[in-house]
Amino acid sequence: MTRDGKNGSGAAAPARVPRHVAIIMDGNGRWAIARGQPRLKGHMAGAKTLENVLGWCKEAGVEILTVYAFSTENWKRPKAEVTGLMKLLGALLREKRRLLLRERIRFRMIGRRGDLPEPLQRKIADLEAETAGFEHQFVVAISYGGRAEIVDAAQKFAALPESERDERGFTACLYAPDVPDPDLVIRTSGEMRLSNFLLWECAYSELYVTDVLWPDFGRDDFYKALAAYASRDRRMGGHA
Ligand code: IPE
Ligand code: IPE
Ligand code: MG
Repeated sequence: MTRDGKNGSGAAAPARVPRHVAIIMDGNGRWAIARGQPRLKGHMAGAKTLENVLGWCKEAGVEILTVYAFSTENWKRPKAEVTGLMKLLGALLREKRRLLLRERIRFRMIGRRGDLPEPLQRKIADLEAETAGFEHQFVVAISYGGRAEIVDAAQKFAALPESERDERGFTACLYAPDVPDPDLVIRTSGEMRLSNFLLWECAYSELYVTDVLWPDFGRDDFYKALAAYASRDRRMGGHA
């Protein structure tokens, strides 16, 4: 049973497909602990789910996928877990390079790049350059915090001429200014919070929380989330 109380069959792509889906990939640790395995095994299993989701987005017609891979707060975790996650992210980019080029998906990172190990920073920049011309997008949030993004944007915003200092001008100062706001935010593992994810961009996003742990998140779960989205009435502050 999903948190929104809807039980789509998950069989077919719904009529109204979100253009931009953002995912808080949570529950890797719980998944591993339930199996008596180290947390890193959970992160490895989670990386496999991410690979699958890229395919389901293409299949369903979702144009942009943003995933929360590592938050500014996740640096507080034990060193071994942090190092393991950085290595896993590097390996994921190496392994997915061919797929992104073949499927013509643009890769980009949002977050504080300078916090990342140098080799990972280089890998990210290279992949961004190689895929820059593609229309579909895969955005990965690493060392990302919504508040950090707002603070970083505020520095640039302050330098704008007064006539440009409005919401549009502020949006232009974000990490990926041309990416439209997420239509749908999915969080796995049942927690009903944003955990500092896309605070500016999620102002009017539809939220969907499932109890399924990220490594167990399957095709049916993905389509259930899309079905829930299709049934929502997005009033955006106006009338129906
Ligand atoms: C999410 O899984 C991945 C990251 C935060 C990097 P967690 O590691 O937070 O898993 P849980 O929440 O402890 O189960
Ligand atoms: C959010 O998950 C961050 C990512 C999924 C990368 P956390 O596990 O870090 O969030 P909290 O601690 O449950 O809020
Ligand atoms: Mg967690």
